[in-house]
Amino acid sequence: MSSDEFPTDRPAVVTCGLPYANGDLHIGHLRGYIGADAFNRSLETLGQETAYVCGSDMHGTPVAVNAEQQGVDPEDFALEWHEQYKETFPQFNVDFDNYGHTHDETNTELTQDIVRTLDEKGYIYEKEIQVAYDPDADQYLPDRYVVGTCPYCGAKARGDECDEGCQRHLEPGEVEDPTSTITGNPAEYRERAHKFFEVSEFADYLTEFLDGLEGTSNARNQPRQWIEDGLQDWCITRDMDWGIDYPDAEDDGDDLVLYVWVDAPIEYIASTKQYSERVGKDVYDWEEVWKDDGVSASGGSPDEQRESGGDIVHIIGRDIIQHHAIFWPAMLEGAGYNAPRGIAATGFITINGKGLSTSRNRAIWAKEYLDEGFHPDLLRYYLTTTGGLQQDVDFSWEAFQEKVNGELVGTVGNFWYRSLLFAYRNYEGTPEADVSEEVHERIEGAIGETREAVNDYDLRGVGHAATRLAQFGNEYIQRNEPWKLTDEEPERAAQVIRDCVQIAKAVGVLLEPIAPDKAQDLWAQLGEDGDVANAHLEDALEAPPRTFDEPGELFAKIEDERVEELTEKLEERVDAASSDDGDESDDGETESDDTDAVESDDMADTDDLEPLLEDRIGFEDFQELDIRVGRIEEAEGIEGADDLARLEVDIGFETRQVVAGIKQLHDLEELPGTKCVLLANMEPAELFGVESNGMILAAGEEADLLTTHGDAEIGEKIK
Ligand code: MF3
Ligand code: ZN
Repeated sequence: MSSDEFPTDRPAVVTCGLPYANGDLHIGHLRGYIGADAFNRSLETLGQETAYVCGSDMHGTPVAVNAEQQGVDPEDFALEWHEQYKETFPQFNVDFDNYGHTHDETNTELTQDIVRTLDEKGYIYEKEIQVAYDPDADQYLPDRYVVGTCPYCGAKARGDECDEGCQRHLEPGEVEDPTSTITGNPAEYRERAHKFFEVSEFADYLTEFLDGLEGTSNARNQPRQWIEDGLQDWCITRDMDWGIDYPDAEDDGDDLVLYVWVDAPIEYIASTKQYSERVGKDVYDWEEVWKDDGVSASGGSPDEQRESGGDIVHIIGRDIIQHHAIFWPAMLEGAGYNAPRGIAATGFITINGKGLSTSRNRAIWAKEYLDEGFHPDLLRYYLTTTGGLQQDVDFSWEAFQEKVNGELVGTVGNFWYRSLLFAYRNYEGTPEADVSEEVHERIEGAIGETREAVNDYDLRGVGHAATRLAQFGNEYIQRNEPWKLTDEEPERAAQVIRDCVQIAKAVGVLLEPIAPDKAQDLWAQLGEDGDVANAHLEDALEAPPRTFDEPGELFAKIEDERVEELTEKLEERVDAASSDDGDESDDGETESDDTDAVESDDMADTDDLEPLLEDRIGFEDFQELDIRVGRIEEAEGIEGADDLARLEVDIGFETRQVVAGIKQLHDLEELPGTKCVLLANMEPAELFGVESNGMILAAGEEADLLTTHGDAEIGEKIK
């Protein structure tokens, strides 16, 4: 273990992208907050000192536009949502150590302080620029007050982000064919002085920063490309009155506030500070984490800073990578704060294979989920083990049911219940015997997997380590048949059950980050005192109490009728919303007319497709891919893995074993003999203990397998 692995002896802070205080929370939000919460809890289980902080994002046009539509004051509007979010998160066991908001005093002061420092250090300058203006409304049109065409990829874009295309941040004046969202009229451009932060000065620093950055690969690769393309300075003021004032600005009646993306990430620091002030600096010192007295100010590399600072981890959506991996670290460095250690950027959520759309009501709402009576831990388990921190997640009630019934009811719950019940009935608790060597080692193995998964920012791995241990437990009971041993070989029986109780406890410890309530219930059933959330990995090997009461079942099956009913409800309401209008907006903001693309069986609505990548690659890059024609020789499901199949693929030179996520999507028995296309020089990986040596290519959610249509022979190269 390198000394820099988690757990470290520094304090950590885990943050999650702040929700705009402008509308109901849905599964797209929850995915991030639950993921970050589970990651933070996993760090704690490893023994890492850590805080999980966040807050509501109160400013900017996402809030102002929505408040205006409702005819209310943006502050009142945002505060109301803020209060609602604060109540909702705990209902999903999202347990922030501090949840503030960007309009509070701590953040306002800190933001002005940081901007003042950047200014004093000469990183901020003023420049006249062209800003969109609506003459009819007689106002400037920052950000979401204007829509147009992205100058980089041609997609429809908002004033400050290419949200439906290349995901780039757009500077004021960049969006082409600007249209006012207030009047729908074409906007004109007017000259206006604004403040700029010299991001371009930080190109070398950022390159080095990205080289040392942990987390998901998308958070490093895209920014590297942006740096290579040349960084632009960043306009940090806006013509609005809702927001944080530029520090020490003369009150000249010009409504100029800081761009929301300046004060929003600073809330990460402000929220940590509030936490620190609440628990006391001797318990958790925000300055040690973020400031570390000047190491960064004196220009230390991110690695050097980590020697003494804290471990800062940001969990964000992949649409805000540029803000977190370019602007934010440049601001931190410029103002003398520490750099993040890791950034994990989550993928998109789809519902029944189609893009989540709040205006089409194609979403699962936080409140709706709870009102349907489902336990939050079920959704937590689904989201984290399906998508981890990086992958896209498709949600359907069927897939949810399958995961719950298969893995939580069938594997974990079943194992917990049968072992504890057997132990209770025969021994009134934990039998007096020592844990066998085999089981001790198996639990140690699971502990190791968890530790590794956390260090890889692999949340799916964290969940799977627990579920697979429970699966081992089930096999262990089955193999040893203790019910046959109680009379003839009582000592053996006691031994087997002693092992099972230990496995049950270990599964509880390992599953806590993902399913905290359920793990706590198990903890109580085992007669353990206190809180499983305070348990560390090693506790998985500590003996449970000698006696405990009769256990109950912790998970219940979701019935088919329930799923049918829920699926129907969802479909009906999506239909109802789309017949209302064709607005495909995500946050309820106004948009120009948006007519739906023709949908036929083989033509997807492009709104539902992943956006085309704007970055081009060279021919040499393509040549690095060794893609071959292959033939599937064997195909079988991998036990315990919902989606995975093990394939043997003949590629002429040899036969490769490949793991592919197609178990649900293809009739495995029919696959042998099928010609396919295989990426042969994919790095080998191990999934569910099965080595995968290559990647089979497939299109779309249904994993439509690629093939060739002529006589290409097995082993031929695709070029
Ligand atoms: N509110 C922003 C969004 O939803 C996220 C802000 S994250 C922070 O896209 F870094 F600025 F805090
Ligand atoms: Zn674009």
